[in-house]
Amino acid sequence: MGRPDEVRTASERGGLSSVRWGLLGTANIAAKAFLPALRETGGRAVAVGSRSVDRATAWAADNQVERADSYRAVISDEEIDAVYIALPNDQHAHWAAAAISAGKAALCEKPLAMDAVQAADLLAGIAPDALLWESFVFPFHPQTDLIRELVSEGRIGSLREIISEFHFSVGRPDNIRLQPERGGGALYDVGCYPIRLARLLSGAEPVGATGSMGFGDQPVDLDVAAVVDFPDDLRLMLSAGMRRSPSTFTRIIGTQGELRVSNPFHPVETSTVELWVRGDWVQTWPAADGTAFRHALEHIRAVLTSGEVPRYRATEDGLPQARAMDLVRAGVERTHSV
Ligand SMILES: NC(=O)c1ccc[n+]([C@@H]2O[C@H](COP(=O)([O-])OP(=O)(O)OC[C@H]3O[C@@H](n4cnc5c(N)ncnc54)[C@H](OP(=O)(O)O)[C@@H]3O)[C@@H](O)[C@H]2O)c1
Repeated sequence: MGRPDEVRTASERGGLSSVRWGLLGTANIAAKAFLPALRETGGRAVAVGSRSVDRATAWAADNQVERADSYRAVISDEEIDAVYIALPNDQHAHWAAAAISAGKAALCEKPLAMDAVQAADLLAGIAPDALLWESFVFPFHPQTDLIRELVSEGRIGSLREIISEFHFSVGRPDNIRLQPERGGGALYDVGCYPIRLARLLSGAEPVGATGSMGFGDQPVDLDVAAVVDFPDDLRLMLSAGMRRSPSTFTRIIGTQGELRVSNPFHPVETSTVELWVRGDWVQTWPAADGTAFRHALEHIRAVLTSGEVPRYRATEDGLPQARAMDLVRAGVERTHSV
């Protein structure tokens, strides 16, 4: 497992100027979001690993990745500094531990682990200063800085309630999100986002949850709604699922006003943050330029190449996030079974 000396500093990495990435999995999200962001930040996509070398070879050619290999070969490749893990949820913790142990930095897709026990095992096996991130990329986006600033300046009074949704429509029936053995289900896939947002904005951990899940004819939760209690009477009302038209609309409500955020998690050019005070519109901010993935990868590059202090690492946040997910799941299942 990872020792502190395995986390190489920028100078030990030989004056690294751009980060050499390896990818695990020929994943949709890697092609659609990670690689475009990587190119914008000047990083190199050195190799993709797959269960099938043929698939990796074709995918590498389609997506301008230099080489194709197995997962194991990618994490032990000496020409790779950082690994992006875009595998089904049930494999995240295993490969995150393996990548860190091989001396790499790692950006692991969310959720980092299937539960808090698995997250604790993973984190106990790696150094506390390991460069491991759970791929919630929105905290790195300037729009999130703006929201945090407006809340901490008291522009909406004291934070009382966050009403946040993340819905989309799952496409193919063989999607990993519909497979319980792969860690599928709406809470793992998208319910995790409002929970991460509420934890980030409140700086606190949830203390209770109730709610319900809808399964339709599937073996996983297709949607979930939950009321999640935080200390000091702060409440998160979350709604997330995989069978509606896309929406991530979020209201961050205080005693004096509220922020209406059209897309807190993956802001695009048309996304906005509106400030309303005592029922009146006050101001609208457009989302800052760039994808959340780009801002996250810029941060990782700065950490690896110029010694920037790492932020939002999974070594600090992975376990409380997994505990919060466990609490919501247990609360929803308990209420739902009544
Ligand atoms: N942060 C974000 O904004 C964001 C957005 C979307 C998705 N995600 C996360 O990214 C991960 C991948 O999602 P995706 O939609 O890109 O999935 P995907 O297209 O299905 O890719 C998953 C990859 O995992 C590999 N894999 C290994 N074992 C598998 C198995 N038993 N069944 C199917 N695939 C298997 C496959 O690559 P090989 O067969 O080539 O090995 C596959 O290409 C998920 O954890 C998801 O939560 C994050």
